[in-house]
This record gives sequence, C-alpha cells and structure tokens, in this order.
Amino acid sequence: MKTTGGSDEAKRRAGESAAALVESGTTVGLGTGSTAAHAIRRLGERVAAGAEIVGVPTSFQSRELAREVGIPIRTLDEVDGIDLAIDGADQVAAFDLVKGGGAAHAREKVIDSFAERFVVVVDPSKQVDVLSHPVPVEVLPDAHTTIARAVRDAGGDPTLRRAERKDGPVVTDNGNLLLDCEFGEITDAAALARTLAAVPGVVEHGLFVDMADEIHVGTAEGVTVSER
Ligand code: A5P
Repeated sequence: MKTTGGSDEAKRRAGESAAALVESGTTVGLGTGSTAAHAIRRLGERVAAGAEIVGVPTSFQSRELAREVGIPIRTLDEVDGIDLAIDGADQVAAFDLVKGGGAAHAREKVIDSFAERFVVVVDPSKQVDVLSHPVPVEVLPDAHTTIARAVRDAGGDPTLRRAERKDGPVVTDNGNLLLDCEFGEITDAAALARTLAAVPGVVEHGLFVDMADEIHVGTAEGVTVSER
C-alpha cells in the first residue's frame, strides 16, 4: 500500500466510524487506501461476529484485504445495488474530492457513485478550503501523449506516474496509465471535471465533484462528521 500523510490513529477512527454505519444484510462498496482499510478490517470483525455483509471491492488491494478478513465479496455485476460505499480521499474541500493516489479512482468512482450513500473517510491532513492536489487521470496507454497535450492546453502540468520497484510507468488494475496533472488551485472543480472527461482516451479522472454524502474526519480526540 502507498503511504500518505496523517496519523494512523486518526485514519482508524474515521474508518471505524464509517464501518459503524453498515447494517447487517447490506452490500458495501469497499474503498481503497490506508483509511478505507481500517473500515474493511472492522467490517471483517463484524462478519466474524455474525453480521451478514457483502463487499464490492474497488481495487485489487481492497479485494485482497476483504478476503483476508473474511468479508464475502461480489463483483459489481453480481449485486443489485450498493447500500453504502466507504472510501478515502487524497484531498477534500467541502464535499468535493481528489482521489486516485492509489491509482484506483476509476473503479472507485463507479462504485462510490452507484452507492445509495457515499461516506468519505479521511484524517485532518486531507482537508482544505480549495482543492489543489494534482488530479490523477487514468488514460488509455496509446493516448497518453495526446492527453498530456490536452491537459497542458487546459492549463495543467501532466506527469506520467512512474512505478516503484518496476521500471516504467504505473499500470492500473484496468491495464491503463496515469497522468498526475497539476492545476494549482482548482477554483471550479466541476468545470475542470467536464474538461478532463471530454478528452478522448481519458478513462477517468480523480475529481469527485458533489458525490459524497458524508465526510468522517478522524482526529486525535474523536471523529467529526459533515453531512449534506
Ligand atoms: C485510491 O486510488 C485513492 O483514491 C485513495 O482512496 C486515496 O489515495 C486515500 O488513500 P489513503 O487513505 O491511504 O490516504
């Protein structure tokens, strides 16, 4: 798993706070990253104690962890719906997010947007007034140079994400590449989201605009929850 800032204790509080919302008999979207992992572990404990929970993982990583902790898992096309999705974020401004630090945002966006209720779990280091985190953009491999040009035309500075402990680029769970696109302060996230989505060859970008229903922020003292 990649490492991000913020204390693990704060992440654990946020993840477990969201896991407490899950009722037995429901289907849960299982997010990716170190904060969502705390929710998955707590759901595993609930399953061991008798709760009937089905998980729909957003990535290889969350599927692996769900298996390890004993949560029965299904793919998206095997379920009728998702009652609640729990997922982390790289940056949060009100109810808008940048996601994709773990290269999983394409599946995350499908599952999180399909859920009846989308709960975001973060530590305070992720909260800002205006989004400014580089926006991960998953792209078809053949299109990465043309998309990089389009990102520059839109005022961004794209960098092909390089792998660690492998030569060459990061390849996503879907077999695509990633451009991390620096835009400085993103004052109109909805407009930038539309611009990026319109570029041919873009599979998905990491701006999650107006999708979240609740933000659970773990702190040293407890958890603060913002609801729409
Ligand atoms: C995965 O691609 C991301 O969207 C993660 O949800 C995000 O990077 C949050 O990860 P952490 O909880 O590890 O910071």
